[in-house]
Formats: sequence, C-alpha cells, structure tokens
Amino acid sequence: MSAALWLALAEPAGPAGSGRRRYAAAMALHGAGLLSTAQLESYREAATTDAIDPHRVMADRGLAPPEPPEPDLAARLSHLLQETDRCLSALTGPGIAEIRSLLAPSLLQRPVPRTGSDNPVVRSHIAAALEAMHPTDPTLAAAIGTLARDLPWITYDAYPLSEIGPHFGRVHAFCTLVGAGAAWPADDFDLGLFLVAPGVLYRDHAHPAPELYLPLTGPHRWRFAPDTPFRPLPAFHPVWNPPLQPHATLTGAVPFLSLFAWTRDVDQPAHVLPASDWSLYE
Ligand SMILES: [Fe+2]
Repeated sequence: MSAALWLALAEPAGPAGSGRRRYAAAMALHGAGLLSTAQLESYREAATTDAIDPHRVMADRGLAPPEPPEPDLAARLSHLLQETDRCLSALTGPGIAEIRSLLAPSLLQRPVPRTGSDNPVVRSHIAAALEAMHPTDPTLAAAIGTLARDLPWITYDAYPLSEIGPHFGRVHAFCTLVGAGAAWPADDFDLGLFLVAPGVLYRDHAHPAPELYLPLTGPHRWRFAPDTPFRPLPAFHPVWNPPLQPHATLTGAVPFLSLFAWTRDVDQPAHVLPASDWSLYE
C-alpha cells in the first residue's frame, strides 16, 4: 500500500486532478507518520492548482522533500517478476504463452526472499551486462540491478567436470526465482536468471526439460547440433529448446545475461554431448 502512495505522491505536476491526487497520498502518508506536517501543508497548497510542483513549494520554505523508504527485498523481487512478465508479454514464439501461464500464480503471491552470498561471477560481470541491456529494456535492467547482488546465485553442478570442462564452473552463475526452494515455490517449473562471462563456450548439452532462454544481452553465438557452425543471435531473441534438443552457446563480447525457464522435468539433469571442435573455441 505504501509503495502505491509514494508513487501517487511523485505524480508530476500538470495533469488535471494531479494536485488533489498528490494531496490525498500526502494525507495518508502523514497519517502513517511518514510525512511531516510542514511537508503535508506544502502538498495542500500545491493542490490548489495542478500546475504547482510541491517540491518547489517545499524548496521555497526551506523544507527537504520527503524521501520514500528503500523498498524491501520482497518488494524488489515482486517488481522484478512483474517486469519479467511484462518483457515476456511482448514476445511471441514457442513456450512463451505456457511460461506466462506457469508464472501467473507467482505474480499474485508475495515472495519469500532467499538470502544469497557474494558470487564472484556476478560481482565481475553483472554491471556490464545491465549496461548492455539498458538501452533496449531500461526498466527490466533497473529491476535486476536493484537486487542482483542479493539473489542466491549458484553454480550448476550436475555435469562431470571432465565433460563440461574445468573452467565452466568458474564462469557462470544462475539463480532460480520461481521453482522448488525459490522465493516463489513451484512444482516442476523453474524460472530465473543465468549469467555467463564473455568469450565462454558452454559446451553442447541436452536435457529432458523443455527450455526457454531469453538472452537480455547479445549478440551471442548458438548451435543446435554438435560439430556444426555457430551462428549469432541478438539480444531479446528467444531460444526455445524442445526436450533433448542439443544446444551450445558461445558468449560474445558482453556478458551473457538471460532469463531461463524449464517448463517440466526440472529434476532430470542435463548431460554433455561430445563434439570434436571445442578446442577451437576454448
Ligand atoms: Fe539448456
């Protein structure tokens, strides 16, 4: 409730009725002890004409404007999930509608945040990834940026080291937002964020789970059969992998940041598929 009041309070001066809407929000926040009487009086005065900016009234009186409190982690997570759904809603292609319907119950639930620990891949690469996606989707980038360092990022550990390669574990991280044990519990559905350092080969692999990647940065290179040429795909181009479809990713010059979703069979592990050309890319 309080977040909506702070949003109403920040409505710009100008539109008809905006002064009264700001003043109504100011009265509620004052009633909750979040606005001083002098600040409230400024909103009352500014409400007489929609064109008056209450911040100007406060400045004239030597008053500081009210400071909304930092949203808590649950609120930031909810905002991220709303932004994720908004981003998906603009896309078409296999899996998108199914993922949005699997996601829908979580949009109505308050998350239970899981605490994360400092992750070296995130520390090194998240800022460059968010900077790269900002021109295309600034609001989703901002939503990720407000909590990226607070999320429980982990390493995917189902691959034998001898098959996935000795370096992959040190250059990727993922975090599940919706799924078993995540902030929004779900049964046999996973959705989250995946981050890989630039210039990394994620070797050919497959899994029974149908999978959507929505890369938020790009271009990165992909192939869908071992020992075939890689081809570049741009940011925000969805990649749908039907069950057991081989896929490999060669990340580009910017870190690979992507939404991912597994729509079923999430407990069945992925497995590496052999190819003879990995040494060309590693
Ligand atoms: Fe995959």
